[in-house]
Amino acid sequence: MAETVRAARLTGPDRVLRVEETKQGPPAADEVVIDMMYASINPLDTYVLAGQVAGEAPVPRTLGVEGVGRWGDDLFVVHGHGVGLSRDGIWSQRAVVPSGSLIRVPEGVDPVQAACAAVCGRTAIRVVYELAEVTAEDRVLVLGATGGVGTAATSLALSAGATVWGQTGDPNKAEAVAEMGAKTVIARSPEELIMATKDLGVNVVLDPLGGNYTTAATQLLAPYGTLVIYGASSAAQTELDVRSFYRRNIRALGYGGVMEGHDEVRSGISDALRALADGNMRIPVSDRVSLSALPAVLKPERRRDAIGKTIVDVGLD
Ligand SMILES: NC(=O)c1ccc[n+]([C@@H]2O[C@H](COP(=O)([O-])OP(=O)(O)OC[C@H]3O[C@@H](n4cnc5c(N)ncnc54)[C@H](OP(=O)(O)O)[C@@H]3O)[C@@H](O)[C@H]2O)c1
Repeated sequence: MAETVRAARLTGPDRVLRVEETKQGPPAADEVVIDMMYASINPLDTYVLAGQVAGEAPVPRTLGVEGVGRWGDDLFVVHGHGVGLSRDGIWSQRAVVPSGSLIRVPEGVDPVQAACAAVCGRTAIRVVYELAEVTAEDRVLVLGATGGVGTAATSLALSAGATVWGQTGDPNKAEAVAEMGAKTVIARSPEELIMATKDLGVNVVLDPLGGNYTTAATQLLAPYGTLVIYGASSAAQTELDVRSFYRRNIRALGYGGVMEGHDEVRSGISDALRALADGNMRIPVSDRVSLSALPAVLKPERRRDAIGKTIVDVGLD
């Protein structure tokens, strides 16, 4: 029998997010109904809202691609299998999801942190451990260090014993970078970034900013350095002096989580949950909001408010 739940839904044709009561049918044989507790907010959600990602998917539908909920007596991360993209997501009191999208939250992991494991946590694991292969010998510059992935990546690189600088463009967030244990770089532009870091001997840059920050990263890196690009928050286009890049043997790697298959996604989430359990990864949560607050929180002018993550606490509604 259909039941009524409160959910944050993308409604058309004007693609507006509305929090409303909606009817939810019973689960199919390969689905479960999960009581949602916490949900993460990612830049990906803003791309979905704008129709840049999953623009052809059915509307109206509930958004939200990752979170934690209770099924039976246990807590599970929910992510993947099209959740929030090609089918209803988890910004809801209860969600019908494919059973394959559930991963048990291990003992000792804070469920709020677990709600960030699938996107931020997995991305940080990939870029720090698998692409940059950060060790205690490395001198790492984390761009966008106050962001969800940036804070997770900073904590992982510090746990690996590396010397870590965290960049922010906002002096008010500098203390948060220092509290994580990283050295602070305040740079509001690519030019300021080069000035602040050119003598540091940085040999790894983790870059979610793209645009001219990526060009700056190729210039500030020491010879044989590694650049890992995984986002384009500032801009997608840049001009690159190819000679200054290849003549100093700089290595550039890209990471895109959307390319991963189900098994790879699951193992990445498990690795992130393990890093949270071991204390090697930390993701600060600066804000907890209700489902009802989502439309306001997702407005462009609010997108750089958080330090670490803003989390939807479903119980607040
Ligand atoms: N490749 C993948 O699979 C993957 C996975 C997850 C995320 N991403 C991408 O990675 C990026 C970061 O994700 P996130 O979850 O960490 O996002 P987030 O929490 O929103 O990141 C905020 C951080 O980005 C900085 N920032 C945002 N817009 C900026 C701009 N226009 N210029 C300079 N700095 C800017 C902020 O700097 P301030 O401290 O100065 O405010 C802050 O440090 C996004 O582009 C996202 O789409 C990619």
